[in-house]
Amino acid sequence: MKFKTRHYDFIIVGSGVAGLSFALGTKDLKGLTIARSSLTRTNTNLAQGGIAAAVGEGDSPELHLEDTLRAGAGLCDRAAVEVLVNEAPEAIRRLVDMGASFDRRPDGSFDLSREGAHSRRRVLHARGYETGKEVQETLLKSVKKIGIELGAGFFCLDLVVDNGRVTGIWAWDENNGELHCILAPIVMLATGGCGELYLYTTNSWLSGGDGFSIAYRAGAVIRDPEMIQFHPTALFLPGYPEGEPLPLITEALRGDGAALHNAAGEQFMLRYHPDGELAPRDITTLAIFTEMEKEKSNCVFLDVSGVEAFPERFPYIYEECIRNGITPGKDKIPVTPAMHYSMGGIKTDIDGHAALPGLYAAGEVSSTGVHGANRLASNSLLEGLVFGDRAAKAAVRDFPRMPKPETPGEYLSFPSEGVPSEETLLEIKKNIRRLLWSNAGIVRSEESLCNALSELDRMEQLFESEKNIFDPALVPLNYSVRNALTMSKLIATGAYNRRESRGAHKRCDFPEPVSPEGKHTELVVNKPVPEPIG
Ligand code: SIN
Repeated sequence: MKFKTRHYDFIIVGSGVAGLSFALGTKDLKGLTIARSSLTRTNTNLAQGGIAAAVGEGDSPELHLEDTLRAGAGLCDRAAVEVLVNEAPEAIRRLVDMGASFDRRPDGSFDLSREGAHSRRRVLHARGYETGKEVQETLLKSVKKIGIELGAGFFCLDLVVDNGRVTGIWAWDENNGELHCILAPIVMLATGGCGELYLYTTNSWLSGGDGFSIAYRAGAVIRDPEMIQFHPTALFLPGYPEGEPLPLITEALRGDGAALHNAAGEQFMLRYHPDGELAPRDITTLAIFTEMEKEKSNCVFLDVSGVEAFPERFPYIYEECIRNGITPGKDKIPVTPAMHYSMGGIKTDIDGHAALPGLYAAGEVSSTGVHGANRLASNSLLEGLVFGDRAAKAAVRDFPRMPKPETPGEYLSFPSEGVPSEETLLEIKKNIRRLLWSNAGIVRSEESLCNALSELDRMEQLFESEKNIFDPALVPLNYSVRNALTMSKLIATGAYNRRESRGAHKRCDFPEPVSPEGKHTELVVNKPVPEPIG
């Protein structure tokens, strides 16, 4: 397959908070940021609750650290969490200086909300809980001002690896069906998560685990892929199109007095945790799951009648409910847990370096060690801001020592001899969503995970064996199925190997953690799966 070659100092794959923060820190270098679809179709754009930072009276980075470590259930990397919480106030100042407008109280101070497992009101929000949109637009405006090239409609197919060093990417231009070899000594992956692999998700539909999979194929270390966080409350809408993100019902609502009721009308959270509705997210999710099983219902209900000024404080959720025939306050809001966040990912140090020279990662696709086994609410936009910026500073320092990439002869993995039919590809995607939801979901077991792994093998065989005529229009779907299969196997392998329950990873056959301090899962292509944990 013929390809076009272009050269830059750095390439960023992904245009959410982590990618754009990286772009802003590298403004003296020649860079390109690419995104699939549009530059704003990101998980950042969908974020509601906000950004956690110790900026309120009576709060401190130490308290933020304690809450993050407690939620992380023994799997956080303390040094990384210290960076996160100490640099948080400065990250907020940078955003405000760029023009971000956070919701404020009449006295001008930030209107901080409280979410599960936070000991203080600490979460900044904007536009009445459409915080992600404010962050996305503010960063994008600033990036446009410094003149970094932006390319929408580019799908990163694979990394270019030369003698163990990442020297660029292979990308498919979806606008005109062309293959590009984009070379740069610095490649930043900021591609977000993998919610699209689950039946119910709050994630954007372009979150199929692409970044994890291309990094894994290239030789990066994927750490703790089994650590999938399920948000307790997504709006449950029967008949909602499968694979579309379910609207999120922010935890901040429970911080403001909303209560969870089961299908029998009982308020149940105090039966599961002394903090009731403000219990850590994993406990709330498991409690909802248990109540749904007990009552044989496919949702529970959020009673918001105790939330003051609901329509004014939470306009987005209010409108979403009204659009779906629910009047908050009068009607209880039906909610279900949904896949929300991947806490594991490409292992990096605190400056964004992955295990392969030339490769950097930040945001949800990375595993910096800040989230452990259970991310504290509203630490994710923060992670993208802090570690995107740190990785940029590291890349600028590294750049003068990096060799200039050489153009490769050809792209050997390109499926020139044909791809499966569209029908087969879509069927595999649909089956993955159902399989992971039921077999590698909120509660897992050896049996469910063995089934998942053998089903995934079967799907992979079908994917590899069915080669129809080459159709350029199917290249993106073909790669997204290939990536979905890779990432699903990583999740199921990690979950199978972790013979304990820790944070968001619940095994009904191993209900306890093996020790207070957790061990990491590390998976590397062509290396044996490590000994089971537990
Ligand atoms: C929420 O608003 O409930 C989500 C916040 C988060 O996931 O960090």
